[in-house]
Amino acid sequence: MSLKVFITGASSGIGEALAVHYAAEGATLGLAARRPAALDDLNRRLGGRHACYALDVSDAAALHDAATDFIARFGAPDIVIANAGVSAGTLTEYEADLAAFRRILDTNVYGMAATFSPFIPAMKAARGERRLVGIASVAGIRGLPGAEAYSASKAAAITYLESLRLEMRPYGIRVVTIAPGYIETPMTAVNPYRMPFLLPAAEAARRFARAIRRGSSYAVIPWQMGVVAKLLRMLPNALYDRLFAGAPRKPRGLL
Ligand SMILES: NC(=O)c1ccc[n+]([C@@H]2O[C@H](COP(=O)([O-])OP(=O)(O)OC[C@H]3O[C@@H](n4cnc5c(N)ncnc54)[C@H](OP(=O)(O)O)[C@@H]3O)[C@@H](O)[C@H]2O)c1
Repeated sequence: MSLKVFITGASSGIGEALAVHYAAEGATLGLAARRPAALDDLNRRLGGRHACYALDVSDAAALHDAATDFIARFGAPDIVIANAGVSAGTLTEYEADLAAFRRILDTNVYGMAATFSPFIPAMKAARGERRLVGIASVAGIRGLPGAEAYSASKAAAITYLESLRLEMRPYGIRVVTIAPGYIETPMTAVNPYRMPFLLPAAEAARRFARAIRRGSSYAVIPWQMGVVAKLLRMLPNALYDRLFAGAPRKPRGLL
């Protein structure tokens, strides 16, 4: 039986690469993002047999309708991937950045819960092991300068996913947290700095899918970033501050 996979943020970057990966394995997909034309174009490239949902993940009612339609057509999904996300430099000292703060938190944190929630009753009732997957980030391990909202959103996502993992355990639903390092996508194309261990999106998708298949509770990809993340966690604040105060910043005003 082919897998049924629902992916948000499928119109570009990592989400699109995951859709291409799972479609090549014969999966039936639900593709969600805001831009309908990009979703339709992807669906056409993947043979036209998937379901597209043009929606904003901060709109829980739209996600409820999409989940209801997906389940009616294909049954409970095996995998739901909350991947949609936005990133921009934000600084609290500028009131003008507060709107971007809200959008980043709404999309990256609330959008994740709004994505999973309408699928959980059907996934609980279905047989077999199922997965809820959240795409977090290494940026959530420590607060990065210039990325106050993004780092906060990804730290919140990591902790949220851990809580959810414990709640879903009795139902045989594995919650997989993926914290990517740098992946080559439109999101990172604007970064004006060197990105160590940068992975092409297709290779990232292959590695993410492996972690999802295994049901890993938490995976940093690529593994080299996992080592960096472990070291970052251990650094005392005084040393972290000295090393990272001058780190390059994501540009403001992208959202
Ligand atoms: N690239 C990296 O190095 C990297 C590293 C760590 C974590 N991540 C995370 O990986 C995820 C995917 O990022 P990416 O690099 O693939 O970026 P991307 O190419 O910019 O893709 C982001 C996707 O999210 C969708 N999206 C954004 N806001 C949305 C909203 N409100 N509602 C529905 N869909 C929305 C976008 O589609 P529409 O514009 O059509 O809505 C797009 O499909 C994000 O959560 C990001 O934070 C990326």
